[in-house]
Amino acid sequence: MFAPSMIQRRAFSASARQLSKVAVLGAAGGIGQPLSLLLKLNPRVSELALYDIRGAPGVAADVSHVNTKSTVKGYEPTPTGLAEALKGAKVVLIPAGVPRKPGMTRDDLFNTNASIVRDLAKACAESCPDANILIISNPVNSTVPICAEVFKNKGVYNPRRLFGVTTLDVVRASRFVSEIKGTDPADEKITVVGGHSGVTIVPLFSQSRHPELSSNAELVKRVQFGGDEVVKAKDGAGSATLSMAMAGARMADSILRAAEGEKGVIEPTFVDSPLYKDQGIDFFSSNVELGPNGVEKVLPVGPVDAIEEKLLEACFVDLKKNIEKGKAFVAQNP
Ligand code: NAD
Ligand code: LMR
Repeated sequence: MFAPSMIQRRAFSASARQLSKVAVLGAAGGIGQPLSLLLKLNPRVSELALYDIRGAPGVAADVSHVNTKSTVKGYEPTPTGLAEALKGAKVVLIPAGVPRKPGMTRDDLFNTNASIVRDLAKACAESCPDANILIISNPVNSTVPICAEVFKNKGVYNPRRLFGVTTLDVVRASRFVSEIKGTDPADEKITVVGGHSGVTIVPLFSQSRHPELSSNAELVKRVQFGGDEVVKAKDGAGSATLSMAMAGARMADSILRAAEGEKGVIEPTFVDSPLYKDQGIDFFSSNVELGPNGVEKVLPVGPVDAIEEKLLEACFVDLKKNIEKGKAFVAQNP
């Protein structure tokens, strides 16, 4: 016999914590493996589905020994493998695709990654059309529009459930500022808007505790080209994987917390955005309030100084081209 208070406690914990299946597509890769590990450590994840064209069962067997409650299963590219991995997923993270080598831009990955993301998006649209889709594969500025077009073609597009993962840009910005100021990065909240490549990444230091940093051109450039630092240091062996896994796991956790009803969950992310649609820019990264239905509210960019105004102008030029390239790809290669 349970005491009434115990029954109440059990009932509360069952309703407060929902069952959340999370799928990772590209789970055996440089990002996929540490990301899967971090998701295994997240108590909000009840079931972890790991899919890759090679190696996912091995990663799943390894991660499954971590003694947290969630179950883990690896899926292979059998005729039903991907669909089974996706069925019932609440969140799908997609880090599938090739990373950069020194000298490449993210756009140079388009030819390989566009079709990978298109095909995985088709599978998501068929097997879990209501899931929150988190795109990590580059070029994010184009792969997110690709995913949107695929979902539109399948008649299941919900702009509130599609997210380009740009979390790493704010993670880097807060860390780089803390290095200059000798502070704890946790106290450095830096807004970063735009897209996720080069000059489309626009840090807004004027809104931070250190508004003078907006004139620090070296710092601005470091945030915009932080990914290149890692690509160069890895010297042909890929791009950011560990910091990206942390950033992706943080984004997934925020989506799950908001899904459970937590209020005031805000993350920067590249979404179908009303902010600059009048200038022909359909997707834009800014702070977004998350809720049970995904995007609850796209927050305004807020006041910017003259230097940042110029950065935004440069961002728009490239971002528009990147978005159009993604849309055109699906139109020509449905
Ligand atoms: P990786 O090569 O180490 O891993 C990619 C994985 O994807 C591999 O295991 C591969 O087998 C798998 N894969 C390829 N095609 C697939 C398919 N059709 N279905 C399922 N899996 C497939 O690369 P990585 O370092 O993990 O990077 C992955 C992607 O993430 C790259 O495009 C990279 O540019 C991008 N990235 C984005 C960010 C960001 O901030 N959004 C940060 C870092 C890297
Ligand atoms: C990053 O920002 O680290 C990623 O987009 C990977 C890259 O190519 O730089």
